Amino acid sequence: MDDIFESELKKATVFQDRNVLSQSYIPETLPHREKEIERMMKTLAPMLSKKIIHNLFIYGKTGTGKSSSTRHILNRLGDVREKYDASVDFIYVNCHNCNTKYQVMLKCAEYCAPGKPFIGYPFSHLFEEVKKKVQDNDTSFLIVLDEVDKVKDIDELMYTLTRANDELDHGRISLIGITNSVGFKEQLDPRSKSTLCEEEMVFPPYNATELESILRQRGELGFKQGAIDESAINLAAALAAQESGDARYALKLILKAGQIADDLKEKRVTDSHVQIASEGVEEEIVYEIINTLPEHQKIVLYAITLLTEDGSRMSKLDGSMDEDAVLYSGEVYDKYRGLCKVYGKKARTARWCRDYLNDLDMMGLITTSISGKGIRGNTTLIQLAYPQEKVKRVLEKHFNA
Ligand SMILES: Nc1ncnc2c1ncn2[C@@H]1O[C@H](COP(=O)(O)OP(=O)(O)O)[C@@H](O)[C@H]1O
Ligand SMILES: [Mg+2]
Repeated sequence: MDDIFESELKKATVFQDRNVLSQSYIPETLPHREKEIERMMKTLAPMLSKKIIHNLFIYGKTGTGKSSSTRHILNRLGDVREKYDASVDFIYVNCHNCNTKYQVMLKCAEYCAPGKPFIGYPFSHLFEEVKKKVQDNDTSFLIVLDEVDKVKDIDELMYTLTRANDELDHGRISLIGITNSVGFKEQLDPRSKSTLCEEEMVFPPYNATELESILRQRGELGFKQGAIDESAINLAAALAAQESGDARYALKLILKAGQIADDLKEKRVTDSHVQIASEGVEEEIVYEIINTLPEHQKIVLYAITLLTEDGSRMSKLDGSMDEDAVLYSGEVYDKYRGLCKVYGKKARTARWCRDYLNDLDMMGLITTSISGKGIRGNTTLIQLAYPQEKVKRVLEKHFNA
């Protein structure tokens, strides 16, 4: 029995530091994000000399380095503050976990007055505490709201934060909002939109070559020397580039491939390990994304999945049927309405559905394009980005539960 622990320690492994390959690790440098980082730093820099800065709105698909670039910059800002004792301060809030204005303000208040009990106090009390801290220290306070689309009462939060600056005699509160959702900006009320989106940045997806250098950087730190083949890295990058240029996916692939090599007691990670890993990673990612979707969004995706299985009615009609089922937004909406009836839900509007299709595209679950000449007007064409059976399996677990 004692041997179990010992053999764990003695087990051969391809990894040098597995942690480097995890999502939360922030690399020293972010290749291919130099331009974005520079622009963000230029936007934030005037904070250091107490000038007013523009609030910044950042969007782009999952795994394009939005969160890590931002955290990287916050680390640098923290270093400078330390070194020069500058009166800037910042907080990074992941709205996935703090999805109401109360939760966000609670985070900020707890940060501004550490150790003070706040839970159960009204929103206004939390807000006063934050303002007091900013005012008393004449601080430029930056609030970063990552996954800002998750905040349910975002318009009210924006309203409060805009008002704050009118009420402050000293100091200032600035914002960075980050999202994967393209439709989000349009859902904001015009006033919050003009507050949050004073300046905008888009993070484009990575191509295969860019992903290769990202993987090489992490591979060198994460794996023992020579323990991962060049071809394994290239394959992982190519697969991830196909999957909408998502660096998170690429990293998961090589981490999984390493685990598979370890399980097989092999000394080097090869492209065949990456190939095996890609099966599992795909399923895991689909599962994670789908589980975070709200109810109606799940129904839209389910509609797409079922239509893909049956083959598109429209493309059958015009004889353009091929093996990669392409759907029309209109038929997706009809199917969605039908499913809402089945599940006893009140269907949302066609306009909402169209916006929502953009979001599913951003998340990499579907790909959309606008129909060219020949096909009726400007219809959105839709294709599932993952194998139909996998998506269906995950969704059915939800709907049949
Ligand atoms: N340019 C880059 N260089 C190195 N690693 C990157 C880069 N872009 C993304 N990553 C890595 O990919 C993963 C996902 O990035 P993340 O910043 O969370 O993306 P997003 O917030 O856009 O979804 C993280 O592990 C991150 O370290
Ligand atoms: Mg992110």
